[in-house]
Amino acid sequence: MKVIVTKNQQEAGVEGYQVFKEAVEKGAKVFGLATGSTPITTYEEIIKSDLDFSDCTSINLDEYVGISPDNDQSYQYFMNEHLFSKKPFKQSYLPNGLAEDPEAETVRYNQIIADNPIDLQLLGIGRNAHIGFNEPGTSFELETHVADLTDSTIEANSRFFEHVEDVPKQAYSMGIGSIMKSKQIIIEAFGAEKADAVAKMIEGPVTEDVPASILQQHPNVVVLLDEAAAAKL
Ligand code: GLP
Repeated sequence: MKVIVTKNQQEAGVEGYQVFKEAVEKGAKVFGLATGSTPITTYEEIIKSDLDFSDCTSINLDEYVGISPDNDQSYQYFMNEHLFSKKPFKQSYLPNGLAEDPEAETVRYNQIIADNPIDLQLLGIGRNAHIGFNEPGTSFELETHVADLTDSTIEANSRFFEHVEDVPKQAYSMGIGSIMKSKQIIIEAFGAEKADAVAKMIEGPVTEDVPASILQQHPNVVVLLDEAAAAKL
């Protein structure tokens, strides 16, 4: 794992952009994307740049179950707001939160990933070291599935909703099996509340109790941190 520590999330955005730029220069065409507050500065730097994704595909990590793409809490809405409206891709995929048959939706999504192998996957990390919505205890082998969110994730994500009861309890998530097939991974973490998860991910044992710890076994990972998130290393 290559660890980069910057002063703050703003500066990290420039480093994150740089990883995307180098991937594009090397011919990357398929990008795995993430939502949450973490990747926002990377997206901002990408938007400011002249990087062109009009010939590229994006595949997002996850989406809440039961939420419409027009809902301003959906990950589709987030991606439109923070990236796609300003940097369009040839094709952008997210799980369909309103799919009638969740099982069929996971099969459809796995086929999309199989047809478009991911060159660079961007990840954030949860306070309990989840990636995507692969919560502690999730099998490292899983591909796209419907995940039950833990109380801590529901609580953490409630800051975006009016009431904690409004936070969906389930989400479609790419599995760790799918994530590990990406050729390159960049995982970002900012703020003191991520410091424990970051230390366990990098220095702890590889265990399904710490989903992000599996990244120690991937051959090409960049970990991008601010000083606060790196404080326990
Ligand atoms: C959510 C998302 C994750 C994200 C995590 C951290 O649970 N499913 O993909 O990495 O939250 O979010 P944030 O970046 O807002 O801290």
